[in-house]
Amino acid sequence: MKQTVRTFVAVEMPADVRARAAKLIEILAGVGADVKWVAPENLHITLKFLGEVELKETARICEAMQKAASETSPFSLTLLGAGAFPNVHRPRTIWLGAEDDAPMRNLHQQLEARLQKLGFRKDGRRFHAHLTLGRVRRGGPAMADLGRLLQEHTTFKAGTAPISEVILFASHLDRAGPTYEPLGRARLA
Ligand code: 2AM
Repeated sequence: MKQTVRTFVAVEMPADVRARAAKLIEILAGVGADVKWVAPENLHITLKFLGEVELKETARICEAMQKAASETSPFSLTLLGAGAFPNVHRPRTIWLGAEDDAPMRNLHQQLEARLQKLGFRKDGRRFHAHLTLGRVRRGGPAMADLGRLLQEHTTFKAGTAPISEVILFASHLDRAGPTYEPLGRARLA
């Protein structure tokens, strides 16, 4: 039996936010660029990608997640504005941003500090809360159109998500795409 599991810590989005984000995906997909769009049920905001971890290690990860969650109060996050990494002129990862992601950055920091004690390295880059909508597979002529469309949707609003828990997910990758299985949940206190 496989002894490791691909994991990440994330927050879920309510159905209304996912529906609005799916609407934006529909608009962006209209340009026909070669992008793997995220299925509406899979839309989430990643706080920390852990990669392959030992199955037996997940209990300790959940404990660390619990501690980080207990140090953060619940908050609201407004999903606002289409964008891309590294930028809209060279889109690789297409996302929906957050209006004020300071509480998410704080949560991310608490999580990083707790997980560092378990040996997970901190991310070198500054954390930007984002809801990934799609990942570019291959560039092509439609990329310029996609970039333009992203710029036209920098004020697109997908609603407000109440953030009251963090979840450790297992990511199962197969041909049909990934499926995410919650392994543990921790409520913000
Ligand atoms: P993203 O949304 O910023 O792309 C599940 O795959 C989640 O883990 C994704 O939402 C993705 O974050 C993140 N992820 C996947 N592979 C990753 C990697 N190699 N490095 C960092 N984050 C990754």
